[in-house]
Amino acid sequence: MRFVDRVAIVTGGGGHGLGGAIARSLAGEGARVAVADRDRDMAESVAAAITAAGGEALAVAVDVRRPDQVEAMAETVFEAFGGADILVNNAFTSCPDSILDADLDDWMRDVDVILKGAFLCARAVLPAMRERRRGAIVNVSTVNAHTYVGASAYSAAKAGVESLSRSIAVEYARHGIRSNVVVPGTFATEAWELRRQRHPDILDRLAHWYPTGRIGRVEEIAAAVLFLASDEAGWITGATLPVDGGLLAGNPWFARDAHPDDQPASGEEAQ
Ligand SMILES: NC(=O)c1ccc[n+]([C@@H]2O[C@H](COP(=O)([O-])OP(=O)(O)OC[C@H]3O[C@@H](n4cnc5c(N)ncnc54)[C@H](O)[C@@H]3O)[C@@H](O)[C@H]2O)c1
Repeated sequence: MRFVDRVAIVTGGGGHGLGGAIARSLAGEGARVAVADRDRDMAESVAAAITAAGGEALAVAVDVRRPDQVEAMAETVFEAFGGADILVNNAFTSCPDSILDADLDDWMRDVDVILKGAFLCARAVLPAMRERRRGAIVNVSTVNAHTYVGASAYSAAKAGVESLSRSIAVEYARHGIRSNVVVPGTFATEAWELRRQRHPDILDRLAHWYPTGRIGRVEEIAAAVLFLASDEAGWITGATLPVDGGLLAGNPWFARDAHPDDQPASGEEAQ
């Protein structure tokens, strides 16, 4: 129970994918959790699941793009729980785009939800964290921030969040506040559902690109987020932690073509 006496806010926490899993995991280790989501029903359903499991949760409807709503969300959490110790910036949208065809409104929506949203949420909780002289912000990025995988707005916004995380880390370290990033690879969440309906084998095909030969499990992201949010990571700040089955570490298929005469011994090949 690493988070007894801690208050956590998880944006996009109503999501059935990583956001909800992170919220439930934090609550499972004793945190009082604000499930902050644009979709009130989804936020309430995750909060209800936490409460049913014996935890403490509060559903808050918020559009993280809106400064007034973000400030109101923070106030609601402070009033209900007396402060905030942990912020997980998880909310996102992603429009499919190619640069020349991108719809500017959709492009800017992704930047606003991901980058402006993370900035506004951090700004809303930092004063309270500074007052308590403790706080941990965990920003959920993506491998797209490091290597081309399409979705230029989403990818650029996430790269911006990684930079923002380092700014917060350095500016607020002396106030006992840490800021870190997790970099997920692929997880079978609803974000993939449309593509999976059209291409039923899409996640199997993606698994092939991972050195570990599989995509991620949501509990593996939750474990990394909880570690970075916990006191165990007390001297880790400004860090970027890939949780990607080795995807960003390199590409076995490239290596095989680059060294055709130098293949791994039988049984060690990439799957
Ligand atoms: N699923 C993946 O394969 C994958 C891969 C890499 C990174 N990620 C990252 O992991 C995080 C979670 O992804 P997921 O697919 O599990 O989604 P999720 O299930 O956590 O759902 C995201 C939530 O964000 C909410 N949201 C969207 N716009 C919002 C706004 N303006 N204000 C407040 N809430 C808003 C949605 O309502 C939704 O509930 C995201 O940051 C995503 O970029 C996911």
